[in-house]
Amino acid sequence: MKFFIDTANLAQIKEAHDMGVLDGVTTNPSLMAKEGITGHENIINHYKAICDITDGDVSAEVIATTFDEIVAEGEALAKLHERIVVKVPMIKDGIKAIKYFTSKGIKTNCTLVFSAGQALLAAKAGATYVSPFVGRLDDISTDGLTLIEDIRTIYDNYGYPTQILAASVRHSMHVIECAKIGADVITAPLSAIVGLLKHPLTDNGLAQFLADHAKAAGK
Ligand code: E4P
Repeated sequence: MKFFIDTANLAQIKEAHDMGVLDGVTTNPSLMAKEGITGHENIINHYKAICDITDGDVSAEVIATTFDEIVAEGEALAKLHERIVVKVPMIKDGIKAIKYFTSKGIKTNCTLVFSAGQALLAAKAGATYVSPFVGRLDDISTDGLTLIEDIRTIYDNYGYPTQILAASVRHSMHVIECAKIGADVITAPLSAIVGLLKHPLTDNGLAQFLADHAKAAGK
């Protein structure tokens, strides 16, 4: 399973990269705004800075919502770097644009997916990634992980190559459950990735090993 980090924060991207477990980055307009990245030039430079840190795919989301504008914006984003993936919302013009980008060899991430039917459409359009939002479904008392299971079943039934990129992952248990289901990728905040490290028995065991070593060495 690939690990993407879901942030536009360069320090956090670097920290995950330096751990050696990072396979890519996802951003969205809210995450860019959270880092104070505004204005065309700054946004473009920020995507380039992210691509300089990671060796993996970097999702850059279009703001446009009509076919012609999505195509123009997406083609400009794709030209920034070979690892840019054009992130396109799950709307009718978005699906049409994903089909177009696929025919041009431009990688896509179909975002804002909340149902199996939407994921089926994304796969039929040839999306590289589909982003079902686990946490936002959980937020409205609907099991987000069931959606990941349903999409896995549908894609396996027909051998669709679209990768399931579980998004809106909020904590480490989401990561583990997505791995059990067989999501191809999770995108999560740094806290959910680093949270996988934690176990009190590891901390206690290490403290004991170091104490015993020090005692035996007469320290
Ligand atoms: C990913 O690319 C999505 O935009 C993101 O995971 C959404 O997460 P949120 O629901 O925590 O905002």
